[in-house]
Amino acid sequence: MKAVVVTDQAEGAAGMKLTERPQPKPAINDVLVEVHAAGYVPTEIDWPSTWADRAGKPKTPSILGHDLAGVVTALGYGTTGLSIGQRVIGISDWHRDGTLAEYVAVESRNLAPLPGDMDFTVGASLPISGLTAWQGLFQHGRLQAGQTVLAHGAAGAVGTMVTQLAREAGAYVIGTGRAGDRDKALDYGSHEFVDLENEDLEDLGKVDLVFDVIGGSIQERSVPLIRPGGTLVTINGLGDIRPEEGLAVDFVVESVPSQLTEIIQRVRDGRLRTNIGTIAPIDDAIAALNPAQRRKGKTIITFRP
Ligand SMILES: NC(=O)c1ccc[n+]([C@@H]2O[C@H](COP(=O)([O-])OP(=O)(O)OC[C@H]3O[C@@H](n4cnc5c(N)ncnc54)[C@H](OP(=O)(O)O)[C@@H]3O)[C@@H](O)[C@H]2O)c1
Repeated sequence: MKAVVVTDQAEGAAGMKLTERPQPKPAINDVLVEVHAAGYVPTEIDWPSTWADRAGKPKTPSILGHDLAGVVTALGYGTTGLSIGQRVIGISDWHRDGTLAEYVAVESRNLAPLPGDMDFTVGASLPISGLTAWQGLFQHGRLQAGQTVLAHGAAGAVGTMVTQLAREAGAYVIGTGRAGDRDKALDYGSHEFVDLENEDLEDLGKVDLVFDVIGGSIQERSVPLIRPGGTLVTINGLGDIRPEEGLAVDFVVESVPSQLTEIIQRVRDGRLRTNIGTIAPIDDAIAALNPAQRRKGKTIITFRP
């Protein structure tokens, strides 16, 4: 089967190759999914799980990608809850081979049904971005209506989901990003926007929740803005500065089917819009995934036109 792999960590994204790999076999409680569309997070090359399995052993050649939308074609031993022919979306395990391949073996517990009226391309754009936003806002950030959220990277894949879900939940959303991100962030629902390169975060009032997708100095500058009892939620590692009278949470998104179903429902009824930058067929994947050519928003690779 065709797959996008990396073999040499030193080469970084330049080492991505479209190659032939053996079709995987579904293990206990897995399903085999015929992938129709797959998503890619640009930082995957830097994740240790791209290069090693759960025991820490090298796993190259490593198939990239973890968002998936496709059709179940086989069940592993003992698998229940999904059936052959079912359309599904979800996130594949970080340490296993990824979804930028014609087939992937995935734990069935990580998948949710994809309704017949939703495109595979849209479906593949939702799991990582949508679930990260959902879990950061509602599980870790315990967001309540009437609270203020500072949503960093508000024009990005995760940030546009954070903005829309927070706003729908009744929060006031201050989006941030680069100067050129302003219109997109406002279009996706930010009530106001801070250009991080030219405007001062420090001029903002207090906020209840900082949703950080950038880390580093942006995170550090955000912490003093958090009200007592508020929360810093980050997906890029905690720095040394923590809220004095609040919580700080760094987390990695998990594939939770019930939450995926909530996200799918919102997209179907028009309450949530996805943010896709590029859609390219598998034969053009290497160019489409090249960081230098990347368009803002999610990059989706398709397998079956
Ligand atoms: N822990 C987890 O579970 C988890 C889950 C999903 C994503 N992530 C991580 O979260 C990060 C964001 O993911 P994503 O998919 O949303 O990426 P993305 O689509 O590239 O969005 C990030 C946004 O933030 C902007 N940005 C980055 N650095 C900035 C800076 N210094 N000043 C102003 N704007 C800045 C980017 O602008 P430019 O494109 O112009 O740089 C982009 O608009 C990535 O590092 C990813 O690895 C972690």
